[in-house]
Order: sequence, then structure tokens, then C-alpha cells
Amino acid sequence: MGRANKVVLAYSGGVDTTVCIPYLKNEWGVKEVITLAADLGQGDELEPIQKKALKCGAAESLVEDATESFVRNYAFPAIQANTLYENRYPLSTALARPLIAKLLVDAAEKYGADAVAHGCTGKGNDQVRFDVGIMALNPKLKVLAPAREWGMSREEAISYGEKFGLEFPVKKSSPYSIDRNLLGRSIEAGILEDPMAEPPEEIYLMTKAIADTPNEPEYLTIGFERGLPVTINGEKLDPVTLIARLNKTVGNHGIGRIDMLENRVVGIKSREIYEAPALLVLIHAHRDLESLTLTGDVTQYKRGIEQSYGELIYRGLWYSPLKEALDGFIQQTQERVTGEVRIKLFKGNATIVGRQSDNSIYAPDLATYGAEDEFDHKAAEGFIYIWGLPTRVWSQKTRGM
Ligand code: ARG
Repeated sequence: MGRANKVVLAYSGGVDTTVCIPYLKNEWGVKEVITLAADLGQGDELEPIQKKALKCGAAESLVEDATESFVRNYAFPAIQANTLYENRYPLSTALARPLIAKLLVDAAEKYGADAVAHGCTGKGNDQVRFDVGIMALNPKLKVLAPAREWGMSREEAISYGEKFGLEFPVKKSSPYSIDRNLLGRSIEAGILEDPMAEPPEEIYLMTKAIADTPNEPEYLTIGFERGLPVTINGEKLDPVTLIARLNKTVGNHGIGRIDMLENRVVGIKSREIYEAPALLVLIHAHRDLESLTLTGDVTQYKRGIEQSYGELIYRGLWYSPLKEALDGFIQQTQERVTGEVRIKLFKGNATIVGRQSDNSIYAPDLATYGAEDEFDHKAAEGFIYIWGLPTRVWSQKTRGM
């Protein structure tokens, strides 16, 4: 008896997930492996990957174009929540995992599979996100993670595959581990494992080095409707085009790099480099528009919600009651977040230089220092008397005056 009969395997075309095909069949007695490759705007041709899976023994090779769903259903809510894990990482890789989990579960249900599989190792966050996402969507499905158990090095995995007739074209292997989708790139390993080592320029693809960026600033206006980005410089764009265009424009000015040490779910600290030009600028702009359209107390309360939201995405709890409850709060706050934000892009900086909204609650006649001032200055005195009362009483008692 094998571990499962029919398995849907998350497939990228890389060494690990390719070796998973013969491994599942020969070591774990799986009768049928169906591979699933998802297009999340990573820019790979999926047709060769689809063919490769069949050549390597998959019974069926599925390809899903999920880029639009990725942006609409996963990236956009994160922008509305201004999520930055540990105040910096906009979750570009993490957000893709619950979507892939959903695609795997949907395919397993459609094809009558009793398990799903992925190629994650036991040290990362992604295994947590896949496993927990899958069990949330369908607790009956088994989750198989061969690479978590097989204990093979990369070379050993390649030799294992070769035993079953798989070919691994010798390409100059990169020392880095890279994950990529429309929202960004995550780069780790190699020299980057030394936290003091400056990342070599060659690792970056979406963002220019400052030395190569334009010598003139570029201005950009992003329009939001209920907290969702809808226009660039007044032009209405579909979500995928908007992100793709923004990545290009913003990356061209060297904006969107992050170099950080982060705390993984499994307790390990790791050094990761990110490129996420569009996502970072959108969060920056969105948060600014909120400062014009939301009251102070909602804005401040939302900060705590945003932190929890980012943590639960990072920790694999996208499909969870807490996420749904926080969504209720966040969506309610977005009703009025409509307007435009003007941004200056220059030499690695995205500086917000203006914002406007029909829902603005900025009151010029209250804020002004000019003659039009409507604020009742005398009212401040009584307010301060009461506001300061506890402090005055405390001082009188402790200072004995
Ligand atoms: N640390 C990031 C996260 O947990 C990215 C993980 C994948 N990174 C990679 N270089 N393969 O979301």
C-alpha cells in the first residue's frame, strides 16, 4: 500500500519538483501523479514546463493562469491592509502560497485525488503556508512533502532522477534560491547567507542600480477607488497591467529593494533580499491616502490590525477565522479611501508629494494659519484645563505643592 493513489503535485519545472514525480511513484507507491503549474506572472514559459512533466512521468500536466486572481484576490487585500511583515517585507512570495494551495485543492477535488504534494523542504515558511492552507480548504486531503523527508542533496536528487531517465540540462547553476512572481522576487542563499556581505548587483532584475537610474525625477499619479489602485496618471488599467507597468516605471528609478534579516515561522533567522517595486509604492501611496480620508482613531487602530494581518499571511493563516474577521474591519475602512496620490520617483526614493480626495476630511479653514482661520482658539483653554487635570492632581500630590 502506497501513501496515496492519486496525487496533485505543485510543479515549477525545477530540479526538486521534477524529482518528486519518480520519487512519489517509486518510493511512496503513488499510482498517478498529476502536476499543476501556476502562472503567477513569473515570466516563465509554461508550455515547456507542461511538456516536461509528462516526459518525466506525470499522468496529466495542468497549467493554470492565475495571475489575475493573484492580484485581485490576494495582493489587493494586502495593499488595503498596508501589510509589511516586520515592518518591511510586503509578502510578495507569501501571498502566492494560499492561492497555489487553492489551485491544488480544486484540482484534487476535480480529479478525485486523495493527496496533494509540494517540493518544499522542512526549513522554510512555504511548507507551513501550503500545508495549513490545504488543510483549511480540505481537511480530508493528505499532504505529501517528499523533499522534507528524502534527505538528498541537490546532486543526489539529480542522480536519483537520472536513474529514472530524467535529464537535467547542465546550466550554470545559480548559487541563489530565488522565488519570483508578478509582485516581486525573493533571493536568498549563496553569499547572502553572510549578513554583513553586500548583495552583489547581479542578483537584481526588477530594480536598477542607483548609478544607472535617470538623472531627472519622474512624477506619477496613482488613483485609488475604495482602497484599490485603478489608474496611473489618469489612465484606467486592469489590475495585472497596473502592477506590471508600475513595476517597470518604479524599478527604473532603483526603487523597491529590501535587504533584511527576518524571523521565519520555524524559528530560524534568515537573510532575504526582496525586489517588489510596485507593491511597495502602492502600499506607501495607499497608506498616505488613508491619512487624508480616515479619522485619526480609525487610522491608529488599523495599524494594529495591519500588523496582525501581515503576521497571519506570513505564518500561513490566510484561510482562517482571524483573517476573515480582520477583513471585515479592513473592508469597512476602505469605503471612503478614494482619491489620488502624486509621487516623485528619483534615485531610489518614492516620495509622496501630494494627495487629493472627494472624501478628504482635511479641513483647510481649521488647519490654516492664515486669516481664514475658523478654529476657536479660546476653546483650547478649557480643553487643556480638563485634559491636564489628572496630571496636575498627580503633580500636586507627588511634589507636595
Ligand atoms: N522569506 C520569504 C517568505 O517566507 C521568501 C521565501 C522564498 N524565498 C526564496 N528565496 N526561495 O515569504
